[in-house]
Amino acid sequence: MYKVIYNKKINDITYELAIDCPHVIENAIPGQFAIVMSYEDSERIPLTIYDIDKEKGLLYLIYQVVGASTLELSKVKKELFSVSGPLGNGNIICSNPNDYKGKRICYVGGGVGIAPVYPQVKFLKDKGFKVDVIYGARTANLFIIRDKLESVANKVMYATDDGSFGTKGFVTTILEKNINNYDIVVAIGPVIMMKSVCDLTKKYNVKTIVSMNPLMIDGSGMCGACRCEVDGKPKFACIHGPEFDGHKVNFDSALKRMNIYRDEEKIKMDEMIKKLGGKND
Ligand code: NAD
Ligand code: FES
Repeated sequence: MYKVIYNKKINDITYELAIDCPHVIENAIPGQFAIVMSYEDSERIPLTIYDIDKEKGLLYLIYQVVGASTLELSKVKKELFSVSGPLGNGNIICSNPNDYKGKRICYVGGGVGIAPVYPQVKFLKDKGFKVDVIYGARTANLFIIRDKLESVANKVMYATDDGSFGTKGFVTTILEKNINNYDIVVAIGPVIMMKSVCDLTKKYNVKTIVSMNPLMIDGSGMCGACRCEVDGKPKFACIHGPEFDGHKVNFDSALKRMNIYRDEEKIKMDEMIKKLGGKND
């Protein structure tokens, strides 16, 4: 069992979770993920690492309540049944910073996908990089971790779908205006956003890395649940990724696979709401 230090709501739909698990964070590289289970019979939830505190042995994760298993997780206050990690490969730039010296780097984070952007930009700042960030949310009150992000980024540019803060439009509205300023883009967020970012950067021939977050079960390459098509070949996001060259990812197939269990997820969510007595704390 793993001690939960806190599991708190940070906006209407998003939670931040701090867990005491020194062995998981000991060798973690920004971009890797962990899999948590609330109880012995719970689903395994893959979450990209948001932050770590090596001195205290704490792992920080940010997640949205989007289905039955994240709803169940949001109610856990004391202990988690299991935490596995670090899993997957670290961010390609953070793993080989010397190869990217002098490159103009832009991170694009959509919604809660901004959480894994933070540790990467922080790591790169410590290595002397000046990294820009484009951060998009549906509306102003869904932005999270703005202070932390601004403390590590060279510049943060905000977009909201409804125009309530920053530029009105999607992250791609800002990216398109600034595309000539960058040699490499890292996009993390909804699959449809990563697809749109790649459609844009392909036109301008700007290398783009995306972090895929398909359905996962074991997280160790055994079950095949996280299969993605990259460069016409099957790849498992949990062991070959989660990052891939965005210009080689088949996003149409990724979008289709995401919806395979939509009906079952709805049934499970309704059961969980009944079991836990509501969606809100
Ligand atoms: P959302 O649907 O609210 O979208 C966030 C922003 O993404 C939008 O405000 C917009 O700027 C951009 N966006 C959305 N659709 C777009 C489009 N068609 N073209 C261009 N830009 C577009 O996001 P959410 O509900 O917060 O969901 C976040 C997603 O991020 C989830 O799907 C989650 O699974 C994913 N995620 C991924 C990782 C990862 O490591 N890959 C980590 C955390 C979250
Ligand atoms: Fe099972 Fe990747 S989650 S193979």
